Amino acid sequence: MLTDTHCHLDDQSYQNDLEEVLKNAYNLGFILNPGCDLKTSQVALNLAKKYPKIYAAVGIHPSETGNYNIKTLDYLNKLAQDDKVLAIGEIGLDYHYEDNPNPEIQKKAFRDQIELARDLKIPYIVHDRESHQDILDIIKEYPNQKCVVHAFSGDLEMAKELIEMDNYLSVGGVLTFKNANDLRKVIKEIPIEKILLETDGPYLTPVPYRGKRNQPAYVEYVANTLARIKEIPVETIVTRTAQNAREFFEIEF
Ligand code: NI
Repeated sequence: MLTDTHCHLDDQSYQNDLEEVLKNAYNLGFILNPGCDLKTSQVALNLAKKYPKIYAAVGIHPSETGNYNIKTLDYLNKLAQDDKVLAIGEIGLDYHYEDNPNPEIQKKAFRDQIELARDLKIPYIVHDRESHQDILDIIKEYPNQKCVVHAFSGDLEMAKELIEMDNYLSVGGVLTFKNANDLRKVIKEIPIEKILLETDGPYLTPVPYRGKRNQPAYVEYVANTLARIKEIPVETIVTRTAQNAREFFEIEF
């Protein structure tokens, strides 16, 4: 069955037709909704409690770390006690926007949240935008703590370093973009056992719906593209990536 390991169903853009969006996703067996701040983490958990195949991750996105403090961590810890919270995320570093909190603030929040994941014995979900080297350096500080780098955008060397540490890479709509040859080349070299599927809805909509709102059902187009790149039947891609999600999140579905 298809899986979407990263979709922001808490987003405003789904507010009026979430039931429809989930109906469209009838052939998915697993959807993970990561939080980006305390509010969206709470909403992600509420959705997870309401719908059996939705699960949550809780965390503070690097762009949202401006007000981050020790109380934030306590609150995340409380949310993470629920069985439907499978990971800490999405967390990481984002150097794209000039008005983001400065890198030192982002790094502190990233490390603290990795340590929370470690204490809770759950994996973490990484957001990495234009911050590859710092991301890799910090991940290496926690060699026994597994993570997935979502919407992976690094080079082959980074990908290899990550999987050698037993981490995973997650790929979404960007894989289908015309200008994504470099990413396709990297992913071709990565064992299928280390790849998770995602949409990152409502963002990064795959071809042929690029420009429209993304949704879990569109993960099918990511799976098709991955099948073409790896020259593996799409059924095998679907089955194997579901197995990867079970192994990474340590869950049955
Ligand atoms: Ni995201």
